[in-house]
Amino acid sequence: MSVRIFAPGVVKLFGEHAVVYGKPAISATIDKGVYIECKVGGELVVETLGPPAVLRYRPGEGRAEAVGVEKFLSYVETALRIAEERWGRLAARFSIRSDLPPSVGAATSAAVSVGLLKAYSHCAGAEAGAEELAKLGHRVELEVQGIASPMDTATVSLGGVLKIWANPFRVERLNVDLPPFYVVVLPRFGTTGGIVRDVKSLLERRRSAASVIDAIGRVVEEAEGCLARGDWGCVGELMEIDNWLLGALGVVDGRVVNLLEKLRPFIYGGKISGAGRGGVVLILPREGDVVEKILTAWGHPYYKVSIYHGGAAAV
Ligand code: PMV
Repeated sequence: MSVRIFAPGVVKLFGEHAVVYGKPAISATIDKGVYIECKVGGELVVETLGPPAVLRYRPGEGRAEAVGVEKFLSYVETALRIAEERWGRLAARFSIRSDLPPSVGAATSAAVSVGLLKAYSHCAGAEAGAEELAKLGHRVELEVQGIASPMDTATVSLGGVLKIWANPFRVERLNVDLPPFYVVVLPRFGTTGGIVRDVKSLLERRRSAASVIDAIGRVVEEAEGCLARGDWGCVGELMEIDNWLLGALGVVDGRVVNLLEKLRPFIYGGKISGAGRGGVVLILPREGDVVEKILTAWGHPYYKVSIYHGGAAAV
């Protein structure tokens, strides 16, 4: 028995941060993500092809460190433990390969957690459904991170373009698409938890900042209509507005502003995706060739992606 699961990465098209304060957000799965293979037999082994870590070598000490690998392994370990509790002990070999770098805000940790759970369930002869995966995947993230929104794990599990309310949790599927777009990866300063805490303390200090959250909520509602009409000019403009509003919350830095300024004549719009302070920047191009040339000249790693309309599933 063997299975290969594709667990898609996730971008936040609109509404991050405001989603923490009761507004809806629009998230979507992309055609880059994590592949997880499971082969029954032998002893339980997990191997990863291309480790999700930065190798740091200290020549003086003759020692190398794989920075980020412990975090990755804690998702793996927790997902395997929860899978074993749910579907019983399994002797199998799992291999994991990711199209995307970890910890940038493309939900690779959610994809690893949900993908492993899905692969485990198949190899155990159970084939977990999307809703159960979303719940178990969220449990993995909660155990590893202490605090986690259900947005990433739900989006990886269900797939497509989703309108999500975090508390109480609710999901609505949007029947919309986007032309291919770019995911640019900037070095990220800070963790999601730390950035979310900073926004919370800003909102506590400055009453007027609440109107920024309200404005983001209105952008999300308007964007839903533009997406439904396939009006990319409108979608791009609202991405820009959302990005400036996120800037007002202190999570968009000069690197993102410069990048968007440089690209402006060749794009419909762009914005950060996720908690911000670097990480993923989404670019909706008018002239993809020019955008690619500029990104290459500036030395920014980027991925050309499309919306993927499925959730984590066997491929
Ligand atoms: O940076 P990410 O991809 O983990 O996304 C965080 C999204 C926030 O809205 C900022 C936080 C949340 O819990 O929804």
